Amino acid sequence: MSEARELLRLAAGLGADFRDSLPTRRVAPSASADELRAALGGPLPEEPADPAAVTRALASASDPGLMATAGGRFFGFVIGGTLPAALAADVLTTAWDQNAGLYVAAPAAAVAEEVAGAWLVELLGLPRTVSFGFVTSGQMANFTALAAARHHVLSAAGWDVESDGLTGAPRVRVVVGEKRHGTIDRALRMLGLGAPTDVVTADAQGRMRASELRVGDEPTIVCAQAGEVSTGAFDDFAAIRDAAPAAWLHVDGAFGLWAAVSPRLQPLVAGVERADSWATDLHKWLNVPYDCGVALTAQPESHSGAFSARAPYLVFDATTRDAMDWNPEHSRRARSVPVYAAIRSLGRSGIRDLVERCCDHARTFAAGLEHLGAEVLNDVVLNQVLFRFGSDEASERFVRNVQEGGEAWLGGTTWDGRFAVRLSVSSWETTDADVERALAAFATALA
Ligand SMILES: Cc1ncc(COP(=O)(O)O)c(C=O)c1O
Repeated sequence: MSEARELLRLAAGLGADFRDSLPTRRVAPSASADELRAALGGPLPEEPADPAAVTRALASASDPGLMATAGGRFFGFVIGGTLPAALAADVLTTAWDQNAGLYVAAPAAAVAEEVAGAWLVELLGLPRTVSFGFVTSGQMANFTALAAARHHVLSAAGWDVESDGLTGAPRVRVVVGEKRHGTIDRALRMLGLGAPTDVVTADAQGRMRASELRVGDEPTIVCAQAGEVSTGAFDDFAAIRDAAPAAWLHVDGAFGLWAAVSPRLQPLVAGVERADSWATDLHKWLNVPYDCGVALTAQPESHSGAFSARAPYLVFDATTRDAMDWNPEHSRRARSVPVYAAIRSLGRSGIRDLVERCCDHARTFAAGLEHLGAEVLNDVVLNQVLFRFGSDEASERFVRNVQEGGEAWLGGTTWDGRFAVRLSVSSWETTDADVERALAAFATALA
């Protein structure tokens, strides 16, 4: 057996041991940062070491520092697990080690990406002509889509931002909702657009008040949201589009865009197809391994206009798709391969079931938490539950006790100036039994 085969078997076995431990291991890590530093640290190695020994030592030193986000009782942030087919495809992606920037360097990866992108566009109910670029995250999906937006609105004003930069360019208005995700602001910073020019107030659920939008004909980008990070609330896309017909309308739908796959939830995203661009994550609700997101635009020329790059040594062919034309990376991982496997393994009906199941669990949690005395602060329209127990101190103690108890994990936030607890059900692994077990842990944490 070759060394690579032996190591792959070893790594797969260690990975499988970790996954087998998920039902019984603590959700929170058991080691402190100092313990992890002691286990993983040491002087820079001067001499080579046996790769199998390195792999074993890495696994055993890391194990107590692993968060069980891949299991069914992790409800923090908005973090999905990993579907088995996506996990296996990710291992293959690593073993293949393709540089998926150019078709010529990675033909199978380029075609898998082409297919996965078209499947995604259809699943999300977007126009078939939409362009897409697979990136690392919701952050980079927002960046990529907003780069296309910047190109488009400035080009319409007669300015070539790729050639002439922003110095002396017409001012771009950027309108956002008060409860936008912070990655919108970071994307705008990276694009040299600075802070949003207009912040529209939000209602109690975190939805932008569309009636307050005042947009004229100047170069304008409006950033709407599908799925507020704590409440799961959706902006009114049709009203926003009607109020800003000439603006570039971007929708950050890191997880909320996935409501489109369910006929039951689809009304939440009504009108979203009228936007000019969308950002969504695949490592969240599609449950592919970290890291993966996608930027989609209704203006392919502006999308590729923002990113296309040519050099004499790079070979392009008009009949094939080069990822480099659609995302900010040059060399890159074939991160759409696990997406392909996830969609292929679940199919449309399996993805619908996954999304609906998470939303059903969220409603069960909301009812169970109310039974335990919580005040549920949001309309539980999706997979997010926001709640508190009496005082800030009581809610903070609850979060601490749940995390330390090890049976489940969730976190807190500030809502309306007070501490609130966030719970997100985003993993394909979460079962009715996990929900019951977590609710029992919540009761213990309160006691
Ligand atoms: C609405 C929204 N946008 C963007 C993001 C950022 O996604 P990522 O962490 O993948 O960059 C999140 C993450 O939770 C989100 O909820």
